[in-house]
Amino acid sequence: MAELPRRLLVAGGAGFIGSAFVRLMLGLQQAPQVTVLDKLTYAGNLANLAEVAEHPGYRFVEGDICDRELVETLAGEVDCIVNFAAETHVDRSILDPDAFIKTDVYGTFSLLEAARVHQHRRFLQVSTDEVYGDVEAPALSVEDDPPRPRSPYSASKVGAEMQCFAYHATYAVPVVITRGSNTYGPHQYPEKIVPLFVTQALDSLPMPVYGDGGAVRDYLYVDDHARGIATVLARGTAGRAYNLGQGGDPLNGLQVARSVLRLTGRPASLIQHVADRPGHDRRYALDSSRARDLGWTPELDFESGMERTVAWYESHREFWEPIKSGEFLDFYRRNYRPLAGTATAPS
Ligand code: NAD
Ligand code: TYD
Repeated sequence: MAELPRRLLVAGGAGFIGSAFVRLMLGLQQAPQVTVLDKLTYAGNLANLAEVAEHPGYRFVEGDICDRELVETLAGEVDCIVNFAAETHVDRSILDPDAFIKTDVYGTFSLLEAARVHQHRRFLQVSTDEVYGDVEAPALSVEDDPPRPRSPYSASKVGAEMQCFAYHATYAVPVVITRGSNTYGPHQYPEKIVPLFVTQALDSLPMPVYGDGGAVRDYLYVDDHARGIATVLARGTAGRAYNLGQGGDPLNGLQVARSVLRLTGRPASLIQHVADRPGHDRRYALDSSRARDLGWTPELDFESGMERTVAWYESHREFWEPIKSGEFLDFYRRNYRPLAGTATAPS
């Protein structure tokens, strides 16, 4: 298949990467019809889709991917499902894994069943490089490496992937999988490292670095990730997974913190080392040549991506201030106990 499907069901499209993908699709000259199905959990936000709300090809349905009846009805109106819907934060999975199993594992099954029944042309599962687990330098993960998940989050994403491979082998559902690396950019809920550190720094609050700050990740700008997913959707081979990483040297937590300090003009004293994350994967690093062979390449390097990201959070306080003084506070207090009094705005 060398072109995009024409009628898409985008599950989890009100989240960070899903909304970037929806904006990308509806910005195309020959835009497909896009139905977003999203439960609007703490991480889902209709403001992320405000830009496309009036687009004639867009429709929003509030609902749960675990709702089999709803999913089957919606799947009957499209020819393809792209699944972003998931619980996505490792630290929350450590505190409370239950929702991860429900949404990431059972929810993916529910979508796959609907794709099978309606004989869809494509099913794209948005997965993660975390399925490879900790990878020792200098190795780069390739798609045929075995999964070695080590957190409840990554284990739930592997559970989803395994069902995708099974549905391809057993029922010939034309599944493709993307394994994106750590993604950052505008519209990200301020719990992952980049938006957390940027919003903390903008308010001159501490940036909590886990352990020695030496764990490394491959950071990918959100629009590059969304374009990678579109490329695999149009050109990927059914039954295959595709790594989507920035490449180059992965960065550690202290390097991310220093980049934020430089771009916000804040002092190094904001860096505060806190207890390490249990089971913290020390290194992720990807070989993305399979996706690059399809014609995908990231456009923004880390510094340019961070400049755009910091500028966006600086000028969009209305996006993150209500979050950080609301739902987020409870999580922050549980996860960062020694810093509990230092989140934005006391409740
Ligand atoms: P996010 O947390 O910003 O958004 C997740 C979205 O899914 C939200 O809109 C939420 O409301 C929705 N959702 C959650 N449970 C649902 C359910 N049961 N039914 C319907 N909708 C539900 O996540 P994100 O960072 O945009 O990640 C999107 C996908 O990309 C996820 O599958 C994630 O595993 C994967 N991924 C993320 C990253 C990253 O760095 N953020 C990297 C690689 C892969
Ligand atoms: P995160 O953004 O949670 O993504 P993931 O764990 O899914 O890769 O974390 C990225 C890296 O940053 C990881 O090594 C953990 C570290 N980190 C901190 O040091 N402090 C924090 O407050 C957070 C959220 C992450």
